[in-house]
Parts: sequence; C-alpha cells; structure tokens
Amino acid sequence: MGAIEIKGLKKTYKDVEALRGLDLVVEKGEVYGFCGPNGAGKSTTLKILVGLVHATDGEASIKGIDVINDGVEARKHIGYLPESYGMPGWDTPRKFLTYMGILSGMSKEDAAKAIEEIAAEINLTENLDRRIKTLSKGNKQRVGIAQALIHDPAILLFDEPTTGLDPIGRNEVLDAMKAFADKGKTVLFSTHILSDVEKICDTVGIIHEGVLMEQGGPEELRQKHGAKDLDEVFLKVAGHG
Ligand SMILES: Nc1ncnc2c1ncn2[C@@H]1O[C@H](COP(=O)(O)OP(=O)(O)OP(=O)(O)O)[C@@H](O)[C@H]1O
Ligand SMILES: [Mg+2]
Repeated sequence: MGAIEIKGLKKTYKDVEALRGLDLVVEKGEVYGFCGPNGAGKSTTLKILVGLVHATDGEASIKGIDVINDGVEARKHIGYLPESYGMPGWDTPRKFLTYMGILSGMSKEDAAKAIEEIAAEINLTENLDRRIKTLSKGNKQRVGIAQALIHDPAILLFDEPTTGLDPIGRNEVLDAMKAFADKGKTVLFSTHILSDVEKICDTVGIIHEGVLMEQGGPEELRQKHGAKDLDEVFLKVAGHG
C-alpha cells in the first residue's frame, strides 16, 4: 500500500475540467516532485487530499484512509503548506504556531516543545518572537512549513514550498524535506523548479491537463527521453507543440 494513493481522480469546477482521471501513488518515505504547467491540476490534487476541495469522482487515500469519506481521520496524518495564505501579521510565529498546535488537538505545553524543536530544525529559532509581517519571504515560508509540521504528521503535502525563495533559502527547504523523508515521512510537493526536483526527489510525476503523463526517477526519465535534464523531459512531455 502506498502512503498516498490516488485513482481515477476527477474534478470539474463549473466548466473547467481540472482533473480528468488522475492516477498517482507515492510510497512511504519518498520525496515526490509533482510537476506540471500552470493550471495542470497540482494544487487541486493537493486540496482534494486535504479536504479543501471535493472531488467530482475517483478515489484518494492517505495511509490507507479514504480522504473523501473519512477526511477528519486522514487529516490527522497530513501536514499541508498551501500555495498562498494570509498569516496573522501582527502575531509572532510562536503565537501563531501555538494556536495551530492547539487547533490540531495539542496541549499548550506540547505545542511549545514542538515549536522549539521544529524551529531548530528549519532555522527559525531567531525569528520566533518577531512579528510575522516583519519577516522576509523565506522566513514567512519557514513559518508556513513549521505550521504544517506542528502535529508531527506522517504525510507532508507542500504546494510550491520553494517558490520565491533565494537559492540559499531554497536549498534549506529542500534539505529539510529530504531530512523529513529520511525520518520516514512521505513528502509530496508541487513545483516549477525542476532542478530542485533533480536534487532531492526519488520520484517525479508530470501532470498535464489533469492527467499524469509521466512518472519515474529523475535519472530514469532523463534516459527514457534522451534528455540532458528534467527541464527537457518536461518540455517533451507537457510542452506545447
Ligand atoms: N476554485 C476554482 N474555480 C474554478 N476553476 C478553478 C478553481 N481552482 C482551480 N481552477 C482551475 O482548475 C485548473 C487547475 O488549477 P490548479 O490550481 O489545480 O493548477 P496548478 O497545477 O496548481 O497550477 P499552478 O502551477 O499555476 O499553481 C485551472 O484551469 C484553474 O483555473
Ligand atoms: Mg498551483
């Protein structure tokens, strides 16, 4: 059983067919890079897994738990970094993260302990007590990641975690994701930065117009398509014309 399993997933928003029968399996302990052009359906897929969007048809499970019919149970195991969100700018990361921890059922004490541990892991300690609105984009992204990790979930769903970060910040986030997977967590993240995928992913999936077009290890896909890098694979699989 895969840590994440998606079968025949469909989503139609009014007149837009965002997902047209998506099949995808992510194994436990894997870092899976979810790539595809703008509008391909990546965020929609992640939102269905988290329960923010209702699927039109198909199946999806997390650790064998049906996310569509048993969403409350499934969400206990999920840490989610949305594509964009508004954080309370006047609060400090510590206050915001405490609140998020309590929301996921933790005691204040456990949340406080988890915040210290996570902050040390992702280089957020120095900024825990500054107002969120004064933080750089990279540090705001760290707060977002910390929020996703607060309840120690087994499955991490990150929507474009490295977008907008400088190369140093990007590498730190990539290293952190790799470290989570090395500890046995499963990471599914969407991205447009294929060099990031080449660095840390065990498996790459390329989604195009709501269907998974290609999947495999970075090296495997390069060889299969006779390509020098994943950018070239991407253009061959999902490029126009
Ligand atoms: N709430 C919505 N209402 C109507 N259409 C939507 C909605 N959300 C997404 N869509 C449409 O569904 C399709 C898939 O969007 P989605 O955001 O999942 O793509 P994506 O792969 O995450 O793209 P990007 O790389 O730009 O983030 C797009 O055509 C988009 O316009
Ligand atoms: Mg998106």
